[in-house]
Parts: sequence; C-alpha cells; structure tokens
Amino acid sequence: MNRGRVIQHLQFIGSFPKAPPETSIPEVAFVGRSNVGKSSAINTLLNRKKAARVSSTPGRTQMINIFELDQSLRFVDLPGYGFAKVPKSVKQTWKYMIDSYLYERMALQLVVVLVDGRHSAQKLDTEMLDRLNEYGIPYAIVATKVDTLKRSKRARQLKTLRLGLAASDVIPFSSETREGVDRLWNTIEKACSNG
Ligand code: GTP
Ligand code: MG
Repeated sequence: MNRGRVIQHLQFIGSFPKAPPETSIPEVAFVGRSNVGKSSAINTLLNRKKAARVSSTPGRTQMINIFELDQSLRFVDLPGYGFAKVPKSVKQTWKYMIDSYLYERMALQLVVVLVDGRHSAQKLDTEMLDRLNEYGIPYAIVATKVDTLKRSKRARQLKTLRLGLAASDVIPFSSETREGVDRLWNTIEKACSNG
C-alpha cells in the first residue's frame, strides 16, 4: 500500500521563468497556496527525498520546475499562490507565471490542486478551482498534511473542506505517512492515458 511507483530514471529538466518549448510528453502540474506541501507531495510520489526543494518558509519554489520520469511523464512544480512574504510585484510575477503555464500549455493533462487538510476552504483555492472549471482543465483535489488531523475530527474536517470547495472528491494525503499516494498515482495515470 502506498509504495508509489518505481522511477528508474528521474531527470530534472530545469527551472524556468516561463514555460519551456512544448513537449509531446504529458505533464501534471502541482498548484496550491504557499507552504501547502506541493514540493513535498512531488518528492513523496517520486520516492525521492530531495528531488524538489522543500522548506518551512513559504515561497520556496519560485520558478517552473520540471521533472521527467522515465521519459514518459513530467511533474511540474510551481510557485505557491498566497501568503508568501514577498513583495506584491513578485507575487504578481508568480501569478502570471502560473496562469500562463496553466492556461496555455498543450502538454498539460492534469492539475493537482493541493489544499491544506487542516483548514476550511480558502478563497484563493476556490478561485483557482473556478478558473480551472471555466477553462475546462482537468484537475484533482488533494488535502495535504492529514497526518496532523486528530482521528476524532478528521471525517468532519474533510467533509467541511469538501463542501466548502464544492468538490465531489478530495484525496486525503500525507507526505509523512504516505497516505493517498496510491490514489493520487492512479488518478494521474488515468488522466495521462486519455490522450
Ligand atoms: P512553496 O514552494 O513555498 O509554495 O511551498 P510548498 O507548497 O512546495 O510546500 P513544501 O513542500 O515546501 O512544504 C512546506 C512545509 O510543510 C514544510 O515544512 C514541509 O515539511 C511541511 N509538510 C509538507 N507536507 C506535509 C505533510 O504531509 N505533513 C506534515 N505534517 N507536514 C508537511
Ligand atoms: Mg514548493
């Protein structure tokens, strides 16, 4: 359970201020508020400790970082939106970077929207989902850090979150316990086999 996939060859394609040339390899992008656990989730899915840079300081990931798995799938780690302590102009640059990638990328097969499993639905998250719906971009919602939820409160908390996001499904996930790894991998593989 939750062992993930064996990646034989992981290649870091690079860190880009704007999307690199299009590719025929399917891409899966990870988005969410700063510090929600995007880079950690990528490392967990890849079974690597340090493929993507993780930090307790929000605003760690500042570019479009692309990882290529066995020359057949790409994971795209994006900057976070929201509360990073960076000047407004930098936040605007990141927003532009994220949006132009998401709304123009031909190779994009799935957006993994990570939301903090400890909190209720946040405006920035519902705005992101609204736009993905509007543009018809396939996405999956992942609730991160569920290892921190108390057993007694977990079901109610996740239900409140799901209702707040108006989502039919949210995948509970933890980079600490690896909960949700199989479900998320299955979702990714399904989305990428359609094209
Ligand atoms: P930015 O790149 O700054 O937008 O952040 P990010 O979304 O990539 O988050 P990152 O993976 O860097 O993790 C942020 C912090 O949350 C780090 O201190 C992680 O150790 C912690 N964290 C990430 N995932 C989990 C999780 O599943 N459980 C717990 N308890 N902590 C987590
Ligand atoms: Mg990051």
